[in-house]
Amino acid sequence: MYKTHTCGELRATHTGQTVTLAGWVHRQRDHGGVTFIDLRDRYGLVQVVGDPNKPDVASIQDARQEWVLQITGVVRRRPAGAENPNLATGEIEVEVQSCEVLNPAKPLPFLVYKDEDIDENVRLKYRYLDLRREKMQKNLILRHKVVKFIRDFLSERGFLEVETPMLFKTTPEGARDYLVPSRLQPGMFYALPQSPQQLKQLLMVAGVDRYFQIARCLRDEDLRGDRQPEFTQLDLEMSFVHRDDVLQVVENLFTEMVKTILPEKRLLASPWPRLTHAEAVEKYGNDKPDMRFGMELYDLSETFKNSEFRVFQMALENKGVIKCIVAPGCSEFTRREVDDLTELARTQGAKGLATLALSTEGVRGTAQKFIKPEEVEAIQKLSGAKTGDLVLFVADSRAIANKTLAALRLHFRDRLQLADPNLLAFGWIVDFPMFEYNEEEEKWDAAHHPFTMPKLEDLPKFETDPGAILSDAYDMVLNGYETASGSIRIHRSDIQQKVFQLLGLKDDEIQAKFGHMIEAFEFGAPPHGGMAPGIDRLVMIFADEPNIREVIAFPKNQAGRDVMADAPSPASERQLKELHIRLELPKEEE
Ligand code: AMO
Ligand code: AMP
Repeated sequence: MYKTHTCGELRATHTGQTVTLAGWVHRQRDHGGVTFIDLRDRYGLVQVVGDPNKPDVASIQDARQEWVLQITGVVRRRPAGAENPNLATGEIEVEVQSCEVLNPAKPLPFLVYKDEDIDENVRLKYRYLDLRREKMQKNLILRHKVVKFIRDFLSERGFLEVETPMLFKTTPEGARDYLVPSRLQPGMFYALPQSPQQLKQLLMVAGVDRYFQIARCLRDEDLRGDRQPEFTQLDLEMSFVHRDDVLQVVENLFTEMVKTILPEKRLLASPWPRLTHAEAVEKYGNDKPDMRFGMELYDLSETFKNSEFRVFQMALENKGVIKCIVAPGCSEFTRREVDDLTELARTQGAKGLATLALSTEGVRGTAQKFIKPEEVEAIQKLSGAKTGDLVLFVADSRAIANKTLAALRLHFRDRLQLADPNLLAFGWIVDFPMFEYNEEEEKWDAAHHPFTMPKLEDLPKFETDPGAILSDAYDMVLNGYETASGSIRIHRSDIQQKVFQLLGLKDDEIQAKFGHMIEAFEFGAPPHGGMAPGIDRLVMIFADEPNIREVIAFPKNQAGRDVMADAPSPASERQLKELHIRLELPKEEE
């Protein structure tokens, strides 16, 4: 037996017992000829004390950070005053009787015991060392608990976990596919699934009724802090359900989960608030609002309809809007600070930013001379702005005004610490538009995916006004992130055809890409719907981490590389030949 106890479990009650421990040297120091080591394993730290003058203990003197040791010794109480109340094992120490070095370690690229700022690429290169750190171990454990809770909760409610293939056909979720060349069928490619979307719908046709999977999804898209090329969804689907049945299952799941495994967190509201897509965009500027704090957007177009401010007049003439947010207590911002905010507004596409400072000494700001006293009063009435506040206006198209003010709102969230990190503001966004117009390619795109059910009452609009068609799609949002998407699906092949046609897919294309789906729907597809929460994003938020790489054991870096194993890497001539692939690489940039 390598050990009788873990490093985290010894207490005063073990005093006098002889124990064997095995673990890593967390820190070591010498004191008056005696060696003190904090020995670490996954379960904690324990102080072991050895006298290297004793022959069986001598090797303890050589031990350096992250060496692997096995020690046998006797548990004793620490001398009075030497206890460590911050350590679970802090009342005791182990007096070493024998020490064996199981494996030494090279000098480390970074310290494991200290939470210092380490370059992320170094952390990722030595991820196995990075994962030894307490914070990373905590994140792995939390992720395990989340997934285990999901499996238990859904299994108890009749959901069946079914695995679906990784080698499949394009499953469009709006990203690029990863392709895998077929050796047996030269020139043919599998696509790795962007999600199990089609397969889970086919499982409904198969009568599975309630399905889930902890599913790996692969998308070749530009990376951001909340995106990885491979990530994990809780994918689920249900038959004979309406929207609210799906929402209820998922709401119950996460409400119970938070109570059980995150007792230190509070839910903002239960039941979760529901906003239509239009309401969310109007009130918060986007469809993934952080609802932990107010600072809502107000539409002042009506207030300013007779404004003498040229900037405001122009926006209204161009069928735009004037919207504002109120930054509490910011009336004394300097010129420089306002310039920085204006710069931020410009990065979002706004032409400028107008301000009104409700200072104790009177009204100031870049828009002050253009805004009449009765307009100031109307603004205050509508927005609740009070003395000491700074009102920020954007006059532009509705889309730009919303986008800009949404970004400013988040800027103030962080700057003024308006959002409680222990609050979880879950919410539902419903009634999404079905299609979005793609200006670049001059065609309609599916706002969610092409299997989403349009609202039946909007079916006539396919011919007249596709942009106005709403769908039975929904998102789950949490603290400013989109954490899940889903929809009621089309189960009628006539409606599915209509959608494909509007998306500009030709009949032969529809047949080639989705023929199997259309055919399946002709064999008695039940009404069905589902959704897919992103596990990485949720665990990231639960763990208060700034990006999802912190909650993924072996993530890709910002450039999409695995810097530990050095992937992607070249294939051998032989491999390429077998796959019938010849490379035509871009010329090196000068
Ligand atoms: P969607 O594409 O919106 O829907 O994805 C659902 C959720 O998956 C997470 N997610 C990601 N997480 C990390 N990295 C990424 N690159 C990434 N992309 C998405 C998000 C997102 O909300 N098949 C549909 C679901 C359905 O309709 O049932 C789908 O995949 O949390
Ligand atoms: P100008 O008349 O262009 O000098 O702008 C007067 C003030 O209005 C400046 O503070 C600009 O930043 C601001 N401004 C300009 N365009 C807009 C806009 N579209 N929305 C809000 N403020 C603007």
